[in-house]
Amino acid sequence: MGIVLGIESSCDETAAALVTTDRRIVAQRIASQDESHAPYGGVVPEIAARAHAERLAPMVEAVMDDAGVTLAELDAIAATAGPGLIGGVMVGLVSAKALAMAGDVPLIAVNHLEGHALSPRLADPDLEFPYALLLVSGGHCQILRVEGVGRYRRFATTIDDALGEAFDKTAKILGLGFPGGPAVERLALEGNPNAVPLPRPLAGSAEPHFSFAGLKSAVLRAKESGRHGDADLAASFQQAALDCVLDRLRVALDAMGPVPALVVAGGVAANKVIRHTLERVATGRDMRFVAPPMALCTDNAAMIAWAGCERLGQSDPLDIAARPRWPL
Ligand code: KG4
Ligand code: ZN
Repeated sequence: MGIVLGIESSCDETAAALVTTDRRIVAQRIASQDESHAPYGGVVPEIAARAHAERLAPMVEAVMDDAGVTLAELDAIAATAGPGLIGGVMVGLVSAKALAMAGDVPLIAVNHLEGHALSPRLADPDLEFPYALLLVSGGHCQILRVEGVGRYRRFATTIDDALGEAFDKTAKILGLGFPGGPAVERLALEGNPNAVPLPRPLAGSAEPHFSFAGLKSAVLRAKESGRHGDADLAASFQQAALDCVLDRLRVALDAMGPVPALVVAGGVAANKVIRHTLERVATGRDMRFVAPPMALCTDNAAMIAWAGCERLGQSDPLDIAARPRWPL
């Protein structure tokens, strides 16, 4: 049995976790920076990097203390090395390098997207490769065929905004605050999803890619027209976004060939309407539906530590660079 320290700092969550190869999250800490970024309606990279620099070291110390584990007892230190906001990624990666050096422990540089892609296997020991993954968060919007560790085939990505970003921008238009997803979902409960005619960008196109910029602009125009209530706007936006996801997923799954499971991950997986609809899609295709617990769906360090567990035995050099862009 091995134990890995994971560090995550690529966006606005500072997180550290200890995870074992037999799928136990031994200790974890996470600090969100929502309040710091809320006045700006989105994540401000400079503020994020400074917050990571202040919080990360005490957080690592706390998880090591919680678990009663010393540096020398670790089998590896895994840190997000990209993609993400570069200042934050550098804080986490450089911290991991220093710890790896001090404890003479292997360093594993993890692609944040790989962390999301493999995290369902931490929660579900029965989830075998391959599986179809819909990864939908504030920064990512992809459909992948996860074939093994390091083996990912991307079927779809967004050509502009991510799905969570579209929720956040809609929330901003409706004056709902940040992060916007949960607020839009709540308000949508009171509205009519068919009240406002909104576009379904790329629906029907043969390539399974996503586009949400046009939808967001249409919400803005509808709001400015003054003809619709906010609850109807929220509900109609959510319905349009969901229709896009379903259409794009259908094309991607058809292209992918048979896979036994459909997995959803990323912050938008918290949305109950989206989650339940995806469950029906999976059932209709005779696929298992897997949605990891929310704490594992949103950005966290346990998924990075788990990616380290899946890669145990490998190591990266201490001069490995942080990467703002890093496709899987
Ligand atoms: O995975 P995550 O915590 O961080 C990123 O990597 O982006 O995802 C955060 C995103 C935000 O855009 C947030 O608005 C969205 O997930 N989100 C939701 C809901 N909860 C969070 N979107 C729609 N409905 C929700 N209930
Ligand atoms: Zn993420």
